[in-house]
Amino acid sequence: MTQFLAVSNRKGGVGKSTISVMLAHAAASLGKRQVLLMDLDTQCNASLMLVGGEAWEKASRAGHTIADYFSDRFEKVAEDESAYVLKNIGDVSHGRFFGGRVSLLPGSQRLEDIQSELFVMQSSKREMHADAVAIQVRGRMKRLMKHFGMDFDLVIMDCPPGLSFAALAALDLADHVVVPFRPDFVSQFALDRVAMLIERVETGEQLASIPFGQRRYSCLPNYLKGDGAERMLLEQLALDHPLLKTTLPALDSIARAFDWDETKKSMEQKYADALSHLRALHDEVFGVAQLRAKSA
Ligand SMILES: Nc1ncnc2c1ncn2[C@@H]1O[C@H](COP(=O)(O)OP(=O)(O)OP(=O)(O)O)[C@@H](O)[C@H]1O
Ligand SMILES: [Mg+2]
Repeated sequence: MTQFLAVSNRKGGVGKSTISVMLAHAAASLGKRQVLLMDLDTQCNASLMLVGGEAWEKASRAGHTIADYFSDRFEKVAEDESAYVLKNIGDVSHGRFFGGRVSLLPGSQRLEDIQSELFVMQSSKREMHADAVAIQVRGRMKRLMKHFGMDFDLVIMDCPPGLSFAALAALDLADHVVVPFRPDFVSQFALDRVAMLIERVETGEQLASIPFGQRRYSCLPNYLKGDGAERMLLEQLALDHPLLKTTLPALDSIARAFDWDETKKSMEQKYADALSHLRALHDEVFGVAQLRAKSA
């Protein structure tokens, strides 16, 4: 069964796009899975990391982005959606036979405008309260996103920091959400906010009443420097939120992996000293997500 994994945090610059791409490469390479990365952010960083500027602009000009997909298909019955997907991309070679593949539904700078247009269009059709229209738009987007499950084993959704309809639809659709964060003095607040959104509760008390084993998200400490203050903060956060055992240190190899490079390479060449961390992250995330799916 297709698994939908969202990578989300309302805080910017915590590593969402980097980790989405790393997990996509790992699931294709280590897990031999057919992976789709869905870029929901108007900054399009994950798209640029996976195909570079030229191929992304070409896809934009051809009308093959997530914004075009929503706009073209919003009112139509489902048709073949593969025209919008760039197949077998990324700068990691996953083996010619029996290997996994990474594909991309490219992001678009027009995604926010398209969402507003869809909202206005729906509002003008019927006398409905704005909240009801918002729920309708979000629900339709979720169904359109779910459609890609037919062609892939795993769909990774790189969410923007803001609360667009597409981001909310991704959180609705996700079987599991990875929440990367940098342990600093605002991370408690950021984790609380995103956790309440994912668990659909309104107060900290309601959130606290949900056992960790039943929560749909796990938090990933990223950009660790390894000092004592950081360890104390993580212990504190672990009282309120399920944290993954895997942590990602601040590494040049992770920062470099952000840059697009035309040459296909092995996972060892791409991720260097980050690879052991990525293996651990892959095994833990997909172990946790599978366990949750079974118990659901
Ligand atoms: N563990 C790490 N070590 C070194 N650099 C990192 C690490 N994690 C992320 N970075 C760097 O931090 C920057 C921000 O990462 P990224 O763009 O993935 O964050 P984001 O949460 O997707 O940001 P946004 O909210 O803007 O979408 C990038 O330059 C990336 O290379
Ligand atoms: Mg990002």
